[in-house]
Amino acid sequence: KRVKAFAPATVANVSCGFDILGFALDSLGDTVELVAKESPGLTVKSIKGDGGKLPLEEDKNTCSIAIQAMLDAMGSKQGFDIYLEKGLPLGSGMGSSAASAVAALVAANELLGNPFDKKDLLPFAIVAEKAACGAAHADNVAPSLLGGFVLIRDYFPPDVIKLPVPEGLCCTLLHPHYQLNTSDSRSVLRERIPLKDAITQSGNVAGLIAGLFQSDFELISRSLKDVIAEPYRASLLPGFETVKSAMLRAGALGMGISGSGPTLFVLSKGAHLHEKFGSEAKKIYDQLGLGLDMYFSKINTQGGGLIQS
Ligand code: HSE
Repeated sequence: KRVKAFAPATVANVSCGFDILGFALDSLGDTVELVAKESPGLTVKSIKGDGGKLPLEEDKNTCSIAIQAMLDAMGSKQGFDIYLEKGLPLGSGMGSSAASAVAALVAANELLGNPFDKKDLLPFAIVAEKAACGAAHADNVAPSLLGGFVLIRDYFPPDVIKLPVPEGLCCTLLHPHYQLNTSDSRSVLRERIPLKDAITQSGNVAGLIAGLFQSDFELISRSLKDVIAEPYRASLLPGFETVKSAMLRAGALGMGISGSGPTLFVLSKGAHLHEKFGSEAKKIYDQLGLGLDMYFSKINTQGGGLIQS
């Protein structure tokens, strides 16, 4: 038996929600095909679209690590052959490792007869995320699994809440051509947050969530601010402040770092500003001598799922 599953790219943090908020993007993502074997053991048979950079060893690949965590929880010895197709660039801040793990889990769950509800796959995806970047953060895996905007209220145990997606909310991703590892961009953060910053951040995260519930784009816009990670990470991102000013001038609701970067996300009401964002950003990155890929996307509300073949 074989099945194929797709899991979407994600934007983690969403400015003010460091490690606790993320959303999923339409049409961009990774695909995993799984074949159930007669014998035990996980084998990563092939990876396409990674330029040969991802490990095939089953104790290093996020697909096999996630599936192994699931099998261990069940006490199962089922074996699988794994075929991964990367649709996402690596080290880009678009939730690449998370999408691979989630697609693998959705496919494995199906082949095992759906022993887990979708939400209950999350702890296994977090195990893979920890192996990929050293931090057990869930703000990519949770939205990739569940779709839409997701709040991670707590980690121990994971308590995730799906939030509403306002009609017409769109995202432009600006992916400049360089890589940044999540572990490196976490290493520039402070261990301690001054009280005044904690207050500012809580106000913004609460405002963003209220804005999503009320489809209040003005409130969403006012709340897309981050005093915890962005000020420290911006120095790792050439042109960040210039691009941000240009995006806000061009009519963005807000712009921030997608996850740990280097991709930037720009939120807007409606799709009509996408091209303007793209052309303004391209001018700036051209001057910096950096190539740029742009993705225009609605918010994916379904999360990872099977692909009918
Ligand atoms: N919340 C994580 C971070 C996301 O910002 O480090 C990484 O994609």
